[in-house]
Amino acid sequence: MSLRLGDAAPNFKAVTTEGEIDFYEYLGNSWGILFSHPADYTPVCTTELGKTALLKSEFDKRNVKVLAVSVDPIEKHHGWKKDINETQNCSVEFPIIADEDKTVANLYGMIHPNASETFTVRSLFVIGPDKKVKLTLTYPASTGRNFVEVLRVIDSLQLTANHSVATPADWKHGERVIVVPAISTEDAIKKFPKGVEVVKPYLRYTPQPNLD
Ligand code: BEZ
Repeated sequence: MSLRLGDAAPNFKAVTTEGEIDFYEYLGNSWGILFSHPADYTPVCTTELGKTALLKSEFDKRNVKVLAVSVDPIEKHHGWKKDINETQNCSVEFPIIADEDKTVANLYGMIHPNASETFTVRSLFVIGPDKKVKLTLTYPASTGRNFVEVLRVIDSLQLTANHSVATPADWKHGERVIVVPAISTEDAIKKFPKGVEVVKPYLRYTPQPNLD
């Protein structure tokens, strides 16, 4: 059975480009992203890992630790990392797991046999500080992911974890948000001093509450 939202993210120990790690220890109290790619020395994967490295300060700002995984061996990861840094003009500093025995791939359901019997697809899991799965994404090998979108979702996950709001379609940090249906309009007016705009009784907006 695949991992679903709210499930506990399985812990594991792994060999990575930054040494051996215990996943939960690596995460500490941070948020985490665990993402798989099909194989080293492939073009789309090279751009994906490069883009993730270039966004390091954005992940740091959000207290998110990143971890990549594929079933290739550690020596191959080290060689490929140099290529990524050279071609994408970046410095990959997050660990890349060498999951040769497919422990992580199997724990997280990253191998989809009807897509490939041997390689991981492009799976991505966002894990909260409570070690629960907050988001899952699955892309095929032929389509690179949008890591700016991943940051946007993390902004929403972190906001909605702490305030009684939800984020509308295409929402970006700084834009108005939606008051969750569980809160009455009367209570919402007390809870959100910046104001509540009632478009319909079930569609109420308020400015993003955690901004000055
Ligand atoms: C790539 O990363 O470019 C890739 C990997 C596997 C299949 C197709 C593309």
